[in-house]
Amino acid sequence: MISRETIDEVKSRMDIVDIIGDFITLKRSGQNYKALSPFSNEKTASFYVVPSKGIFKDFSSGKGGDGITFVMEHEGMSYVEAIKHLAAKYGVAIEEDQRTPEQQAQHTDRDRLYHLMQYAKDYYKDLLVNSEEGQSIGLSYFRERGFNDRVIEKFELGYTLNSWDHLSKKAIGIGYTEQLLGKAGLIVTRDDGRYYDRFRGRVIFPIHNLSGKVIAFGARILTKDKDQPKYINSPETEIYHKSNVLYGMFQAKNAIRREDFCYIVEGYTDVIAMHLSDIDNVVASSGTAFTEEQIKLIKRFTQNITVLFDGDAAGIKAALRGIDLVLKGGLNVRIVLLPDGEDPDSYSKKHGSTALKQFLKDNSKDFISFKIDLYATESGHDPIKKAEAIREIVTSISLIPDAIKRSVYLQETSRLLKMQESVLLTELNKLVLTEQQRQHPDEDRGDRGGRRSNNFRGGRDRGPVPMGGPMGMPDDAPPPDMFAPDGDGEYTDPASIIPVSSGKLDAEAMVLRQEQETMRILLNYAENAYDENERRMLDFMLTELEDFEFISPLHNEIYTAFKNGAERGEVIDSLYFMEHNMSDEIKSFVATLTTPRHEASKNWAENKIYFSEEKELLQQLADANIYRLKYRMINKLIEDTLQQLKSATSEEEEEQVTTIYLQLKAAEMELAKFLGIVIGK
Ligand code: CTP
Ligand code: MN
Repeated sequence: MISRETIDEVKSRMDIVDIIGDFITLKRSGQNYKALSPFSNEKTASFYVVPSKGIFKDFSSGKGGDGITFVMEHEGMSYVEAIKHLAAKYGVAIEEDQRTPEQQAQHTDRDRLYHLMQYAKDYYKDLLVNSEEGQSIGLSYFRERGFNDRVIEKFELGYTLNSWDHLSKKAIGIGYTEQLLGKAGLIVTRDDGRYYDRFRGRVIFPIHNLSGKVIAFGARILTKDKDQPKYINSPETEIYHKSNVLYGMFQAKNAIRREDFCYIVEGYTDVIAMHLSDIDNVVASSGTAFTEEQIKLIKRFTQNITVLFDGDAAGIKAALRGIDLVLKGGLNVRIVLLPDGEDPDSYSKKHGSTALKQFLKDNSKDFISFKIDLYATESGHDPIKKAEAIREIVTSISLIPDAIKRSVYLQETSRLLKMQESVLLTELNKLVLTEQQRQHPDEDRGDRGGRRSNNFRGGRDRGPVPMGGPMGMPDDAPPPDMFAPDGDGEYTDPASIIPVSSGKLDAEAMVLRQEQETMRILLNYAENAYDENERRMLDFMLTELEDFEFISPLHNEIYTAFKNGAERGEVIDSLYFMEHNMSDEIKSFVATLTTPRHEASKNWAENKIYFSEEKELLQQLADANIYRLKYRMINKLIEDTLQQLKSATSEEEEEQVTTIYLQLKAAEMELAKFLGIVIGK
């Protein structure tokens, strides 16, 4: 016998689309999914999956049921086998009913916890209406907030007396143990072993699980005491895992199914205020930030979430985070911001329920319009802000798991922002790839060819900058530390010719330093082998730098000399510059770069050793340099583009420049990934 808890746990984790999707291919059809029946030989699909209800129905064979039934029918399994299969799929440990005494004890422990929580809840409820203190303080507070008897009963609100041991004394008096009170989080035990009630002199918001059992409490202070937290919440317990629970879900679930969407609000009082206005499809997280698990919980009832937050800065930030979380969970998201400083509760108190309902109806936006409007109001008509907004939106879209949905949203964005869809698509694809790699870094997608190339001039695809090599560097690892002596992936050369001004280097100076390193590699190692295939360094560099334009004319001149030499079939070296009719500037530059880069040692042999060591690592040296050079150049181009954007004079110009900006940002991100640099969005 598998235990009840295991079965409940499997049921709470399972996702019908996911389960059936393991066996047959489902096609989306509105909110539901369709497929050819796996139980008969049909030509037109009559097999339906309804995710909001967690069921399937096969009209050709008449079979139907939940995920467990499906596995039983499809795989010919018994109930127990199906549960075991799903438990394995969802990582649930199977608890048999022939339990060890320990497990047995734990089981009854959970039951005792539920009992105790119910007892406490009833006690708090009773105090709210039947004690002098509860009435005069708790109840009058609820009344002031406009809570009527209906919601007080629906949410089982209560009051806890301002005393250190009122609850624990009573509970122990009727046989609950101190240990159990501790496990339930109802008492706090001090270092000296003495304990006191956790919740004192506060109104109580019980938190229910899906079947209506009380598993935790939130307790709000009523005084203006600044030393006390406004809310005290139950700690994590055996029956309460904050990140999996949503306040109000028990009272909301039917309405969520019926309305086929769910409001997310900030807190307990907001949930109740919505109910007061007859909006029942609403939940809040209880005193924590929203989690992926909570979104999954909602997904069992609907695919649609409307995030409803205060219009102040904190509210907007929370809303933005909520949007991305919902999108990532594969759900649809809309947003309503209330006027600055208002929550549903205060709004309905001020303007009434009807006004609140109307407001929600009039002001709910899809997330794209929301983000566009947000940046538009923030920035007026600032083209730089617009470019950022585009990136923000495309980044959100990239989180959506479903490719078709992504493309629909992309079309919408393209329409609203009057940006070419192809431009957004390029950007989107990059982000999606990056995200996929972040999630599955070990997977080899076998397409190193195109993707690794870091063209940024939109030129031909010149193939990848190969990583890996004699040191057996893992493919995605940043180049080894020895090329990044200051630890942030930056090459710093003590003998640098570019003056290092104090403080931050600007983008151009950074490019120049990398250019100089390129020159140094060419001048010292052009003829050496780049890799074990005996490919020459010169050829590697010429391929990588085909379209590259060095900022410094001096660097360009040297590079061109190498290139022209190669066309004649020669590999020139530093001597070439010394012997030919070159400017003094070039001569002294070349001389400096061909002197060992560490402080010239008096010991000639040491220098020789240094050079011979570097020679063995030429591939990494060159790869690191090429990546950094391109990265720095892109940084600079981004800066230039932003300047251009500021001074753009027509819409067309703005669009053109924005397009370039987006491409550059995408390239920057990709390169940063290889370099192991973390950059902001
Ligand atoms: N919250 C919390 N701990 C705090 C403050 C807030 O856990 N110290 C959580 C609670 O879940 C609360 C939600 O954040 O419901 C929203 O907070 P707030 O709006 O400050 O609570 P309200 O009771 O609505 O207070 P007010 O009447 O001032 O709006
Ligand atoms: Mn509030």
